[in-house]
Amino acid sequence: DGFSSKQLFNQGYSYTYDDVIFLPGFIDFATDSVDLTTKLTGNLNLSIPCVSSPMDTVTESSMALAMATLGGIGIIHNNNTSVHQASLIRSAKSRQIPFISDLICVSPSDSIDSVEEFGSKPCVFVTESGNSKSKLLGVVLKSDWEKLSYKDVAVSDYMLKDVVSGSSKYSFEQAASVLQAKKLEYLPLVNEVDGSVVDLFTASDVERIRGFPKLGNPSLGTDGEFMVGAAIGTREQEKERLEHLVKAGTNVVVLDSSQGNSIYQIEMIKYVKKTYPNLDVIGGNVVTAYQAQNLIQAGADGLRVGMGSGSICTTQEVCAVGRGQATAVYKVSSIAAQSGVPVIADGGIANSGHIVKALVLGASTVMMGSFLAGSNEAPGVYESQGGRLIKKYRGMGSLEAMTKGSDARYLGDTSKLKVAQGVVGAVTDKGSVLKFIPYAMQAVKQGFQDLGAPSVESAHSLLNSSVLRLEVRTGAAQVEGGVHDLVYYEKKSF
Ligand code: XMP
Repeated sequence: DGFSSKQLFNQGYSYTYDDVIFLPGFIDFATDSVDLTTKLTGNLNLSIPCVSSPMDTVTESSMALAMATLGGIGIIHNNNTSVHQASLIRSAKSRQIPFISDLICVSPSDSIDSVEEFGSKPCVFVTESGNSKSKLLGVVLKSDWEKLSYKDVAVSDYMLKDVVSGSSKYSFEQAASVLQAKKLEYLPLVNEVDGSVVDLFTASDVERIRGFPKLGNPSLGTDGEFMVGAAIGTREQEKERLEHLVKAGTNVVVLDSSQGNSIYQIEMIKYVKKTYPNLDVIGGNVVTAYQAQNLIQAGADGLRVGMGSGSICTTQEVCAVGRGQATAVYKVSSIAAQSGVPVIADGGIANSGHIVKALVLGASTVMMGSFLAGSNEAPGVYESQGGRLIKKYRGMGSLEAMTKGSDARYLGDTSKLKVAQGVVGAVTDKGSVLKFIPYAMQAVKQGFQDLGAPSVESAHSLLNSSVLRLEVRTGAAQVEGGVHDLVYYEKKSF
């Protein structure tokens, strides 16, 4: 019944996740016994197969911290200076509790002239030199500022000086009990030695962090700190960036390129392996066996697969190059498995079914952009639009992101014309990744159970032994597989 993967993917079609469907197998184990532990690279293991994308609207320190807490990993983007990128790595690695850590600090002589300066935070900290590294002097509450609107007035004239603070060494429960006992809305956590403000703990953090179900072990490196990855480009000056990132403790480096099969990337992989023999390097992006082989030969410890499959990507339309993501994952994984190199299925994940498809077709992890954008942990602030909250999500090859510096990924050059390979948009508020990733993982486990695969490894064996049967869905079958033939139902209260 159905086709084997070999038969299905050798017909000359470029299939996306939605084009294919698996036929169910035999169940002889419970959903909760499905084991999603997996490999990010040859040497790095994860408890869940989730990686956040190196995009400036997806992964900075809060996202990396949350992903590592859940047992996945975040890859910090490189659309910034190397010093800033290194500080984001340090910030994620040095914490133990997944706070949303981008603090807003001003110096005593600064004024706050617009409510937007508070971003999504309930308060702004006033510190000696206006950054989080110097001593905390006071606090300005957003609610106070909105009532009195102190435009053009130095914050030192009206800041609250008696700030109840806690120690940055507090455990989550210690911080939560101080907050609740004193009926506070927020609690700055301060370094006991130099008085600098390290974190902001808010009432909403209590609910966000206390409520998250434990999935598996958090991702810790051999240094005992959270595992964090970082992206770099392939230009010569990126070697200096890499040095900063290694000093900051990055556990893995991702060579960020939309077409990874290039002399530049091959040379960079060799350079990384020679200079930092203990640092794993992920190459990509690739979508064919030929591309993959070149990067594997150069020494890549993992491969990132996808070209134009991302929700904000226009590469296939602009450059006429790429591949349907289901076909790309299958083809690259088949080759990479022969060398024991794990594959990251990057882009195009819109639901838990897509995660199941990516993993079963040979990937060891999935990398997600839009699935994680719009969460509490994604960079940026929520805006209200049409009665709902949204957060910006943009392609790293969009003109807006390239103007900020990411053009190297798309082989652009500041002296030449810039052609966009991505767009800018927004996604709706999804809440915390600490909450929705566990739901997604439970759904993935159910998918594995339906297929009769108790682990990622066993799913790959089913695929390779042709036990797994697949079919292509017609357009009508895809409509049938989604919600259909319903009218809007307004719930009435009786
Ligand atoms: P999703 O579907 O998860 O995709 O939002 C995220 C992935 O898309 C890639 N990416 C881009 N591709 N133009 C592209 O062609 C872009 O501007 C762009 N920005 C990101 C990237 O691989 C990311 O992980």
